[in-house]
Amino acid sequence: MGVVGLSLALLLAALVALCSAARSDAPRGVSVGFVFDPKAQCDPQCSHGGICIRNHTCFCSKGYEGESCQYANCYPKCKNGGTCLRPGKCRCPPGFGGRYCHKVTCDGGCWNSGECTAVNGVAKCICPSSWTGSRCQEAICPQGCRNGGVCVAPGICSCPEGWLGGACHTAVCTQSCLNGGKCISPEKCRCRPPYSGPRCEEKKKFH
Ligand SMILES: *[C@@H]1O[C@H](CO)[C@@H](O)[C@H](O)[C@H]1NC(C)=O
Repeated sequence: MGVVGLSLALLLAALVALCSAARSDAPRGVSVGFVFDPKAQCDPQCSHGGICIRNHTCFCSKGYEGESCQYANCYPKCKNGGTCLRPGKCRCPPGFGGRYCHKVTCDGGCWNSGECTAVNGVAKCICPSSWTGSRCQEAICPQGCRNGGVCVAPGICSCPEGWLGGACHTAVCTQSCLNGGKCISPEKCRCRPPYSGPRCEEKKKFH
């Protein structure tokens, strides 16, 4: 290689020197650090506006490098496995963003004060202790929510009709069970013998 870094002005100066030399047939003009051969052939051809200055040597435009100027260069370099698409433009792998792929991005964000962090190169939400799920969107109810209850906030169950209590574990009997009977499910009493009936209000008669 060895041609990257030469300024375009220098190249133009070389061209001017060559043209005037051809016209006057006299060696004059500026001396340059490389030989420009107008018949030079580069195979593969110089990409991205690079100029073939001598056989197999490309003079690359700003922002490109490689034998045929095939690679864009990004400064600062693309981080986290990003690839340089064109000068200064990185394509980032999933989970990373920002101009140089230096930012971790969790798809959909992290809720409830969760923190987006790269774990082994993969973006992940780190959730506070009372939340879980890929985006920390699910509350944790350590007591559990029974009888079809739903955990809606840390430690708080939303209970279906007929159930109450921190874990939706207490059945509701609108009219209380009598004579030592126990409400075992919504509007259902379990009676102590010898009582029976919806509210355990009847005493069986034995003959
Ligand atoms: C460049 O390559 C061409 C084709 O292979 C050849 O004819 C020519 O002599 C080469 N020029 C130089 C300066 O080596």
